[in-house]
Amino acid sequence: MNKDLLSLHTLSCEDIYEILDLADKLKAEHKAGIEHHILKGKTLGMIFAKSSTRTRVSFEVGMSQLGGHALFLSCNDIQLGRGETIYDTAKVLSRFLDGIMIRTFSQEDVEELAKHASIPVINGLTDLLHPCQVLADLQTIREYKGTLKGLKMCYIGDGNNMTNTLIQGAAKVGMDISCASPKGYTCDMNVVMEAEKDAIAMGSKIELTTDPEIAIKDADIIYTDTWVSMGQEEEKAKRIKDFEGFEITPQLMKKAKSDAIFMHCLPVYRGYEASSEVVDGPQSVIFDEAENRLHAQKAVLVKLMGNK
Ligand code: CP
Ligand code: NVA
Repeated sequence: MNKDLLSLHTLSCEDIYEILDLADKLKAEHKAGIEHHILKGKTLGMIFAKSSTRTRVSFEVGMSQLGGHALFLSCNDIQLGRGETIYDTAKVLSRFLDGIMIRTFSQEDVEELAKHASIPVINGLTDLLHPCQVLADLQTIREYKGTLKGLKMCYIGDGNNMTNTLIQGAAKVGMDISCASPKGYTCDMNVVMEAEKDAIAMGSKIELTTDPEIAIKDADIIYTDTWVSMGQEEEKAKRIKDFEGFEITPQLMKKAKSDAIFMHCLPVYRGYEASSEVVDGPQSVIFDEAENRLHAQKAVLVKLMGNK
């Protein structure tokens, strides 16, 4: 593994399976009441320039279950938010902490922080990517389907940080992925071009379309996300109009495989990207998916911050 977790693209397929296997083990042991204080005495700083429920709580709880400590650092409070450089922040925090998790806007800022920090940096979401979420998603899919390679995932909605990362993750493990977004809302084409190489090596396909019915055909996993990501609040009215026809309804779900699962990174807006019958229906695995943030991230923390 590299020093940092900034993107799934820079992990190998083996790295991903090592994280998932460790996540499964830590989950099973936690449920059995066995805890490992692998990170005793270690501190993770958590920089947030955007809101969070799952990421903040799961990292903080994960660190405490591993015997360490997590520090919440809001950009409203730390000097980074007032113009202190990323370089100086990286250098100073490296003297106090054992790892940094950061949620912010620009992927480049996260890369720069990692470049100058001597400690591991974990991407807790940028406008481009959300790798921790997709590791938890892959763990969840494997729990339900027993495998990853050879499945078909369908993503319907905004081509955003989730779409980009799901494409990266699917390509790494050899899962087909078909993404349907309205014209003008497709995912990042650089991400697709990079992931295409992994997909070819694994014998899987990446398909981009504007037709949800094409994307969902024969899908094992149906995934969606909000139409209005953090930072896009001013575009809300236009987006709701532009995404008409992209809501995941029970009728649309019927076009997937009958045993398909419904996933969403949350927070979900019922009646927009998916109807409440789907979100709260029998195929939905959204809360298992949310729980797995804890287990998958504990595995990442152990891999990056545990004694080598
Ligand atoms: N899915 C996710 O990252 O949730 P939060 O924004 O609540 O952290
Ligand atoms: N696409 C969403 C994901 C939230 C976890 C956002 O960036 O706001």
